[in-house]
Amino acid sequence: MSEDIIVERREAVQVIRLNRPEKKNAITRAMYARMAAALQEGDADAAVRCHVFLGVPGAFSAGNDLSDFLAVATGGEAGTEVFDFLAALAAARKPVLSGADGIAVGVGATMHLHCDLTFATPETVFRTPFVDLGLVPEAGSSLLAPRIIGHQRAIALLALGEGLSAAEARDCGLIHRVVPAAELEEAVLAAARAIAAKPAEALRITRDLLRGPRTEVLARIKEEAEHFRARLKSEEARAAFTAFMNRRKGG
Ligand code: COA
Repeated sequence: MSEDIIVERREAVQVIRLNRPEKKNAITRAMYARMAAALQEGDADAAVRCHVFLGVPGAFSAGNDLSDFLAVATGGEAGTEVFDFLAALAAARKPVLSGADGIAVGVGATMHLHCDLTFATPETVFRTPFVDLGLVPEAGSSLLAPRIIGHQRAIALLALGEGLSAAEARDCGLIHRVVPAAELEEAVLAAARAIAAKPAEALRITRDLLRGPRTEVLARIKEEAEHFRARLKSEEARAAFTAFMNRRKGG
């Protein structure tokens, strides 16, 4: 039976793969929980030197599962899985790398703001249709995106929902490198192996200096989450989720 998240160790590199191709790697609550646990377990294990997030060909992730959102919009409990994952990602003590091909939507785009090195294929488009869904930015993106890619690009991405091509994402500093699809995984894994081979303590201090204290970003993730939870129950959001579900039925 296939697993939606596959966690494997490749020597000192922990690979966390989103593996739900039939839904373009839309992320369910169970998938968030598994990814959060993997980050925490890898951080606690001295044999792991860095984490790598990968998707499947054509889809890094279509973001949060919209049926989970619709369940909350229609009265269900939000749960803590998304928040727990984002907190684990923002607080990760070891370097986090990622490789994206194709779809990188919602949290499938914003999670790269927490990564230390991201590779993407020319076919990749980063997109966050939060406002169109009646939602607000998450994952600390309202703080990190303006810092990393600049205010106007952040507005275009996070508020207008404009897509960012892989080349644009590289040019504005969201990602490290654009590589052909056939070379993506080996490029990410080679970078991960190189990181894993560095003197661990010097690398940890260097990364902590570059990232700075996590308190501000963790506080912003919490602040965004409060707005986000309220917005999930809004009429605007309910209408957008229902439209997506109906679009599927309509073909
Ligand atoms: N949540 C739940 N299911 C999703 C999903 C999501 N975020 N994204 C895609 N899927 C499902 C589709 O409903 C479809 O399921 P079905 O085959 O049972 O009908 C399947 O994945 C394939 O998606 P499809 O839309 O046919 O693929 P596509 O290549 O034409 O389009 C996207 C891909 C990502 C552009 C499109 O699916 C989309 O816009 N998804 C929603 C993205 C989104 O808004 N995410 C939340 C951000 S906060």
